[in-house]
Amino acid sequence: MTALIRAADEGDDAVIRILLGDAMGPDEAGLVGALREEGVLLDALVACAGSPSAEPVGYGAASRLTVAGGRASCLAPLAVAAEHRHRGIGRRLAAALIERRREAGDDVMLVLGDPAFYGRLGFSAARARSFRTPWDGPHQQAIALSEAGRSLAGAVRYPRAFDGLA
Ligand SMILES: CC(C)(COP(=O)(O)OP(=O)(O)OC[C@H]1O[C@@H](n2cnc3c(N)ncnc32)[C@H](O)[C@@H]1OP(=O)(O)O)[C@@H](O)C(=O)NCCC(=O)NCCS
Repeated sequence: MTALIRAADEGDDAVIRILLGDAMGPDEAGLVGALREEGVLLDALVACAGSPSAEPVGYGAASRLTVAGGRASCLAPLAVAAEHRHRGIGRRLAAALIERRREAGDDVMLVLGDPAFYGRLGFSAARARSFRTPWDGPHQQAIALSEAGRSLAGAVRYPRAFDGLA
């Protein structure tokens, strides 16, 4: 069954909390609410199996990062319910978020995760190395979304909602 991707709305909050808690642990269940309260949630998408009114089985969000000289976001959190994984839902959610931020005029997007998964979407650890983040290392990856994004560099400030996570 093909999953449909649509914008998340507040009616999805309870299911998203459960989805994130199951996929990433109890500390991340409240992440979306915290990002929204902080005013940094840019895009939030759900994947629904079968029809747009079906219960979401996947969730992905982009939130604002602060970096001097450009517009940056991070792709987080991204989660798919265990029984719906390995069908391309995670990849489609991530690709849709990248496209939305590109269309919105952002310069760069960062993600912290498995290079085997995110590398296929165009993220690279090499592009991330010019940034200083709280999570520098091989799992920190970036993708340029504009010409300026190819050379953007420097210290990156994350939303407070991520403090203590990852
Ligand atoms: C990471 C996560 C979001 C990926 O979701 P997903 O829907 O399984 O992702 P995809 O299906 O797009 O890709 C995952 C794998 O399925 C494979 N796949 C994709 N479509 C497929 C299909 N139609 N048939 C079979 N396999 C497929 C991909 O090649 C990929 O293979 P790999 O795991 O060997 O690298 C999911 O595993 C998850 O929620 N994990 C827990 C939370 C987490 O770690 N989030 C990321 C934090 S950075």
